[in-house]
Amino acid sequence: MISLQDRVVEIGSTAGTSPSGSTLAKMSRAKALPRAPVFDWPAQGTQGQPRLPCVGDLPAKLFLTSGRAALAAALDQIDTKPGDAVLVPSYHCPTMVAPVLLHGLQPVLYAIGPDGLPRLHDLEVVGLSRVRVMFAAHFFGLTRSLRAVRAWCDARGIALVEDCAHSFFGMAGEQPVGTWGHLATASLTKFFPVREGGLLARAEGRLKPVALRKPGWKRHVQSLADVLEFASQHQRPGGVAPLLQLLFAAKRRRRVSALRATSSDHSASPSDAAQMLQACDMGRVGELPAGPVEWIVRHQDLASIVRRRQANFDGLQEGLAGLDGAGPLFRERPMASAPYVMPLWVDDSGRADRLYVALRQHGLPVLRWDRLWPGLKKPANDSGCSWSHQVLQLLCHQDLQRKDVARIVDTTRECLRLA
Ligand SMILES: Cc1ncc(COP(=O)(O)O)c(C=O)c1O
Repeated sequence: MISLQDRVVEIGSTAGTSPSGSTLAKMSRAKALPRAPVFDWPAQGTQGQPRLPCVGDLPAKLFLTSGRAALAAALDQIDTKPGDAVLVPSYHCPTMVAPVLLHGLQPVLYAIGPDGLPRLHDLEVVGLSRVRVMFAAHFFGLTRSLRAVRAWCDARGIALVEDCAHSFFGMAGEQPVGTWGHLATASLTKFFPVREGGLLARAEGRLKPVALRKPGWKRHVQSLADVLEFASQHQRPGGVAPLLQLLFAAKRRRRVSALRATSSDHSASPSDAAQMLQACDMGRVGELPAGPVEWIVRHQDLASIVRRRQANFDGLQEGLAGLDGAGPLFRERPMASAPYVMPLWVDDSGRADRLYVALRQHGLPVLRWDRLWPGLKKPANDSGCSWSHQVLQLLCHQDLQRKDVARIVDTTRECLRLA
């Protein structure tokens, strides 16, 4: 499943001006870094080492095709009537809103504070009579206690869905991730070398049975091919990557020309809700994931994923500290976390725009959540609104090497100087 952000990158953005200079020219000729974990042969004897808790440890769980499918399945578990409201953070990926609309429910944006947590006091003035559900995320994988959020939901009969798309691993304050919510959801593509996959889980009690379509054999083959194709683009898996590159080259040429032919449809930001829903690609929400997904996830060395993500995050955080007009959004990472990205704050929003375009042109793995769902009322007193423009999300996944992190740091510093 291609995410909204990936789709834009594959087609390539030409907006804005790129910084120039000989250092940057050299940097821009370097190969694009992987934007997600890359499949390789599982290392022998590395599983089972001590590691952080994770959403996959929760007793009741269901594998799905994506994080958005998991959010949709969470809504299936909760009693709602058409027109009931779901609280969604103002700072969001559109894939958090699409499942709500698909269920005929009304998304209502809530403000977040500078720590990324819901501003619960401000919520009382919105009018909560029709609210049945709240989505709360551990943004960037920087896990936090949701004790107050859970208590607030319990007091009002609201079901809390803990969105762990960014935080598959970790302690969220005094409890493991995924255990604060009545339900927890996760996105597997962000933490594992799979191209589709999500998880719905529950710490207490069972999940209600749900009817999911079984994928046909073609889907299983396609899923494996997607994993191998992405890996071969990044010289993996060891030993067979060159052969796979040859095999996939022709297929890629065909796809690139097809994408070029339709690029005018996608390169513009979706401007209305219908286009946005279409871009969210909700077609496979009611389907089981293809067979290879669960197998690959179960054969990963979880301790090493956590260690490498922490090291990459810390490398980015240290390398980008002390800049003029920009810097890590948070001073510290929670010790027991395995982040998804390092959030970089840029003081000036025009400079943030230029930096974002430049970093994408240099092939760096960076995202920004600048697409708010059209037509939804923005809350007051909100940090999410400025984050959506001024926070760049620098990926720190386990398959970025130390030299890649150094490249991200050097390129970002150089682009910032010129932005
Ligand atoms: C916080 C959050 N929740 C849910 C999702 C949806 O996950 P997926 O892309 O696996 O559908 C995303 C995707 O970026 C996300 O960032």
